[in-house]
Amino acid sequence: MTVLVTGARGKIGQAVINRLHTAGLPVRAASAKPAELAVPSSVDIAEVDLSRPGASRDALDGVRQVFLYPQPEGIDAFIETAQTAGVEHLVLLSSSSVLAADAETDPLAAHSLHVERALTAAKLPCTFLRPDAFASNALGWSHSISRGLPIQLAHPDAHIAPIHPEDIADIAVEALIGTTLKGRAITLTGGQSLTFREQIAVLADVLDRDIRVETITHEQAEQQMGRFMPTPMAGSLLALWAAASTGPAAIADTTRTLLDRPERTFRQWATENAAAFAAR
Ligand SMILES: NC(=O)c1ccc[n+]([C@@H]2O[C@H](COP(=O)([O-])OP(=O)(O)OC[C@H]3O[C@@H](n4cnc5c(N)ncnc54)[C@H](OP(=O)(O)O)[C@@H]3O)[C@@H](O)[C@H]2O)c1
Repeated sequence: MTVLVTGARGKIGQAVINRLHTAGLPVRAASAKPAELAVPSSVDIAEVDLSRPGASRDALDGVRQVFLYPQPEGIDAFIETAQTAGVEHLVLLSSSSVLAADAETDPLAAHSLHVERALTAAKLPCTFLRPDAFASNALGWSHSISRGLPIQLAHPDAHIAPIHPEDIADIAVEALIGTTLKGRAITLTGGQSLTFREQIAVLADVLDRDIRVETITHEQAEQQMGRFMPTPMAGSLLALWAAASTGPAAIADTTRTLLDRPERTFRQWATENAAAFAAR
């Protein structure tokens, strides 16, 4: 009963592959760039660009379950191929953003929502994992921290309950191999609400460095973020953070509520990833 894991170079995809492999389950790692994969040598590898129709036919041969990254282009062809191949269940890495009132037009949510709807319409048994912000988004501060520059934010007091990527992987694996999560749509967070300022204080403590935070205007932030993402996406994120600045973030389902295991903390993520912030 092979499990196909797409997005195998991604943080969550990689962690899911390692867990399934360690558990002795047949797993196939699917990546758009298989040459760059870092998976155990005995793991089967397939080249899959989800946006290209028909690209996943060979990769789905003998597969019964899929861990899927949301790629709206080519999703209908992927579903058709999966049904023909006999896939019985998919676990989708969706996003909590699909729950927003404007999800259909929100650039953060639209791609995940489109894929959720396509899977629902196809009546394929699915589990939707809808995580909130990943703890690993803090890597976006590594450039400033490693060079001793202040972190410039428009909304430093926005509250987030960041989830450790390994927690998402634990929950994804339970959805694949267990029975309790199958078929559900689950919103996921970490166990603690922290403002950006508090996350940066944790990083400063772990790294034993001073890290300054500078508040900038919405327009300045939009301009800076626009270098790394489309402007509408930057605008959407800034609006989200402005709205999140009024009080603590709600805690949704976590490894504690779903797996009876304590959540990994932001401090743990910071400690494990300290090298990414080392002085340059
Ligand atoms: N970051 C957050 O806070 C957050 C919150 C909620 C939801 N999410 C969702 O989680 C997902 C991953 O987020 P991330 O930013 O952390 O990314 P990531 O871990 O860097 O993973 C992205 C991976 O997706 C795969 N991919 C991209 N285009 C592909 C394609 N055309 N065909 C097949 N695979 C493709 C790539 O893997 P390969 O090259 O190996 O194929 C890539 O490494 C996104 O869908 C995002 O919406 C993120």
